[in-house]
Amino acid sequence: MKTLIVGSGGREHALAWKLAQESEVFCAPGNPGTAEIGQNFAVPVSDHAAISELCRQIEPDLVVVGPEDPLIDGLADRLRAEGFVVFGPGAACAQLEGSKAFAKDQMLLAGVPNSRSGTFTDPGDAIKFARKLYAEGRQAVVKASGPALGKGVIVCSLLEEAEEAINSMMVERDFGDSGRTVVVEERVFGREFSLLTVCSGASRISLPVSQDHKRALDGDRGPNTGGMGTFSPVPWIHADLIAKTEQEVVDPMLRSLQAQGMDYRGMLFSGLMVEDRIPYCLEFNVRFGDPETQSVLRRIGTGFWELLRAAASGEPLVAPEWLNHAAMTVVVASGGYPGSYRKGVEIELPTQIPAGVEVFHAGTKRESGTLVTNGGRVFGVSAVGESLAEARKIAYEVANLIEFEGKFFRKDIGTA
Ligand code: GLY
Repeated sequence: MKTLIVGSGGREHALAWKLAQESEVFCAPGNPGTAEIGQNFAVPVSDHAAISELCRQIEPDLVVVGPEDPLIDGLADRLRAEGFVVFGPGAACAQLEGSKAFAKDQMLLAGVPNSRSGTFTDPGDAIKFARKLYAEGRQAVVKASGPALGKGVIVCSLLEEAEEAINSMMVERDFGDSGRTVVVEERVFGREFSLLTVCSGASRISLPVSQDHKRALDGDRGPNTGGMGTFSPVPWIHADLIAKTEQEVVDPMLRSLQAQGMDYRGMLFSGLMVEDRIPYCLEFNVRFGDPETQSVLRRIGTGFWELLRAAASGEPLVAPEWLNHAAMTVVVASGGYPGSYRKGVEIELPTQIPAGVEVFHAGTKRESGTLVTNGGRVFGVSAVGESLAEARKIAYEVANLIEFEGKFFRKDIGTA
């Protein structure tokens, strides 16, 4: 069996690592980590014609599209129309991530629990709505409707912060066209988690749950990032909460999309906040989480390739084997991330990696044979152990051994 993985980050390295256990793996464009597992092709994810040509060359049994942008731009539709088996939703469903206004409309239509909100194209109207929330003693979250590299969601304790966020998005255009429309929603308080669900039409199988740490610094301080580390299982998330989330969030959304003629074939990432035992949906993403995937896939045994293939083909889904051990991933980042940071910094990796550890490349490249940094999140060091404490200990041992100037990582993954 042959699998083509589209993308080049830590998530794609983890997918390549897992899928290579059950198939021959090709990556477009991949990274130095995936090059050690399969064959990389220097094709950018935005060049759909070149990816389509690559598919004709390789003839993969399965294509897995990692990042959201090519999905939003219709890569899965194109490849499916050309006869390839693709895990990843088409452009219409991918609007769940491409447009927060669309996602809100869909949540309301499907009856998915979500917080009170308004969608605005006029900054004055958005500010009026925010003022009403604060007058009622509530707080606001201001979201740029379009994609904003994970930075377009601003949680505002004070009305002044909400006004500033609305101005920065709608007037200053700090997020370009993505902030032309904003969603202002009532802030929900509680515990946050995400659920990764493999979907095919109205059928679905959720993967083991993980928890991400989004802030850059220990103690959940500092700016928001794409994610600084994950762990799985998550002690406070029980089977009944997962079942409730599947029944109240995932199923209604899949059925509603289907009723509108949209058949979802791919990963549905539900971002949730649990308040009073209700899983409120904060957002949907249409792809595997990064770095959630790096921990979640460590807890899956055989049957993962077949699960993705069956979902992509619209065939009945069979759950893969789940592994009982704990997994933890710590992201090793470039100094300055998520703000500006240097690229091209030489990296020294430990020569011996202990059993149970995978060092997933996220932002690296080779320059004349030398491994250098090429992004904010450089590696995800992923370890498994009998307990979370054991996985943590090993992951941090290896994270400490990776050397490059300016490296940093959070020291409290799995404890915060
Ligand atoms: N780690 C959050 C995300 O993948 O969106």
